[in-house]
Amino acid sequence: MARRNPPQEDLAQQRLFKAPLTRESLRQTFALARYVRPHRARFFSGLCTLFVSAALGLAFPLLAGSLIDAALHPGATTLPLVGAVSLNQVALLLAVSITLQALASFNSALAFNRVGQSALADLRRDCYGRLIALPMAFFAQRRVGELTSRITTDVAQIEGTLIDALPQICRQTVFLLGGITMIALTSGRLTAVMLGTLPLLIAAAVFFGRRLRVFSRETQDQLAATNTIVEETLQAIASVKAFANEAFERGRYDRANARVLTAALSAARWRAVFVAFFIVALFGGIVIVLWFGAGLLQSGDISPGQLTRFVLYTTFVAGAMGQAAELFTQLQKTVGSTQRVRELLREPTEAAAQNPIGVSAPLATPPSARLRGEVAFEAVSFRYPSRPDVAVLHEVTLAARAGERVALVGPSGAGKSTLTALLLRFYAPESGRLLIDGRDARDYPLPWLRGQMAIVPQDVLLFGGTIAENIVYGRPDADAAAIREAARLANADDFISAFPEGYATLVGDRGIQLSGGQRQRIAIARAILKNPAILILDEATSSLDSESEWLVQTALQRLMKGRTTFIVAHRLATIRTADRIAVLEAGRVVELGNHAELSAKPDGLYRRLSSLQFGQPTAVSQL
Ligand SMILES: Nc1ncnc2c1ncn2[C@@H]1O[C@H](COP(=O)(O)OP(=O)(O)OP(=O)(O)O)[C@@H](O)[C@H]1O
Ligand SMILES: [Mg+2]
Repeated sequence: MARRNPPQEDLAQQRLFKAPLTRESLRQTFALARYVRPHRARFFSGLCTLFVSAALGLAFPLLAGSLIDAALHPGATTLPLVGAVSLNQVALLLAVSITLQALASFNSALAFNRVGQSALADLRRDCYGRLIALPMAFFAQRRVGELTSRITTDVAQIEGTLIDALPQICRQTVFLLGGITMIALTSGRLTAVMLGTLPLLIAAAVFFGRRLRVFSRETQDQLAATNTIVEETLQAIASVKAFANEAFERGRYDRANARVLTAALSAARWRAVFVAFFIVALFGGIVIVLWFGAGLLQSGDISPGQLTRFVLYTTFVAGAMGQAAELFTQLQKTVGSTQRVRELLREPTEAAAQNPIGVSAPLATPPSARLRGEVAFEAVSFRYPSRPDVAVLHEVTLAARAGERVALVGPSGAGKSTLTALLLRFYAPESGRLLIDGRDARDYPLPWLRGQMAIVPQDVLLFGGTIAENIVYGRPDADAAAIREAARLANADDFISAFPEGYATLVGDRGIQLSGGQRQRIAIARAILKNPAILILDEATSSLDSESEWLVQTALQRLMKGRTTFIVAHRLATIRTADRIAVLEAGRVVELGNHAELSAKPDGLYRRLSSLQFGQPTAVSQL
């Protein structure tokens, strides 16, 4: 009777936490009903046919009972609304009723599925849209697995409720109330017997169900632990192999796997007990009802048809009660899921988060078509929202005039990448100001501002797709000629054209692997195509061979021309040609000047760093 899920699905379902059914949580759940609203006509048609099919289902025991009575007492059997009926007429009525019930069920199943799937597709789209519009700080505090599960597991839970549980709740309510009414009409004494045994069975079922759930939870927690191991090792598969640690990882997995088995076996014992109990309860219940009913039949209090009806209605009622617990659990999980999904949908987007009410609102339209590219950090202090106790930048003041090149150098962890993250407005300064073209950066609409910037990151990650698609990411409306020109300027055209499929060559997970220098040149082509006013370069720390190095450097020189550039620099060649060098240490600008000025400071950090990195200090000043 109770619908059983396959074990795997069962575990995933149980992992969803259950929310208490309070007025507020239900209100939240119904707030998502707006996704059903566009499809309400179909939804109500589904609901109506569902009730029709449930009512016809309820008529089945009535007709089945009459079938027996009509056979035993021809001519003496009557049906409500119809009057006297013969055996064959009852059979015909049954056939008609079953056909209608099938048609109604077909329509309602189809309607609920259509409404559910369309509503869920909209919900998924909104969740994803909101997710990628959230500020960086949001992602720093959450695990990727947790976020993907909102779009997959939580939405699937809501889907299950909308498509399966909701119609089931309606149908079972009709069966429960209708069944009890029909039984009461058949025989008051039998009803009393049946209702008397039920509370005991329900109490026992709830008790076993709870025990079972405790052990199932333990199993699923242990299973989650093994999945984490799989995820970790697959992500770092190259390291696992390089360190020849397959045996170590296998051992780790085996131990976790053994714990899953122990937990699963404890759960299995309770499950087996539960199954045994269920059989006793089900058959025992039927036997008790039959035994008592047979007595009534013997004494002539009820007819054989009435006994048949009674047994059938009893199974309807018992079925509905058996499902009630499961449907209730399902509902609780769904409320939990809707809460998490609603939380996500109400999370402030990046633009809203950086412009809290009361602070300046961004201009509706940008002040000019293109930025000049003046950037000024004024006494900017910052700490990451995920680590509020560590101050990462202290009163950093640094300016770049339009078209200047500013090199950021300093030890690892000094805050160089953080400074570029603030420029991209991934985060807002905690105090101080970031001015762009003389205006507070928050005055500009965020997408427009980022449209004026481009970044060539330290480690270029290409999207799965063709090379052309990866380059056009910089400016989605660019045509093939523009893509090619950008690739040519980025010194990438030669190696791309050498591939048999040229610009249509697939890269990424399922495509060919490009070398570090090649990927960087693709990123440069992307930036050239975007034609930004402000450029951020995070130089690769790994050195390329001298030919690729030359190709990358000349491409970068072309890219930097006429743009304000912030370079997190590791190479002397880049640093020497910078208009200004900011030496960062522990979040402070400790030295500022050009190469000649900074090299001249006898015990400056720059001089020390460059001697470590590029050789003797004398060599640096000679370069
Ligand atoms: N997302 C983050 N959340 C919390 N702390 C961070 C985050 N990113 C960086 N930090 C911390 O901020 C400090 C500055 O980091 P940052 O990445 O800016 O250094 P960096 O100068 O770029 O170093 P490197 O040369 O190694 O790239 C470090 O102490 C780092 O631990
Ligand atoms: Mg960095």
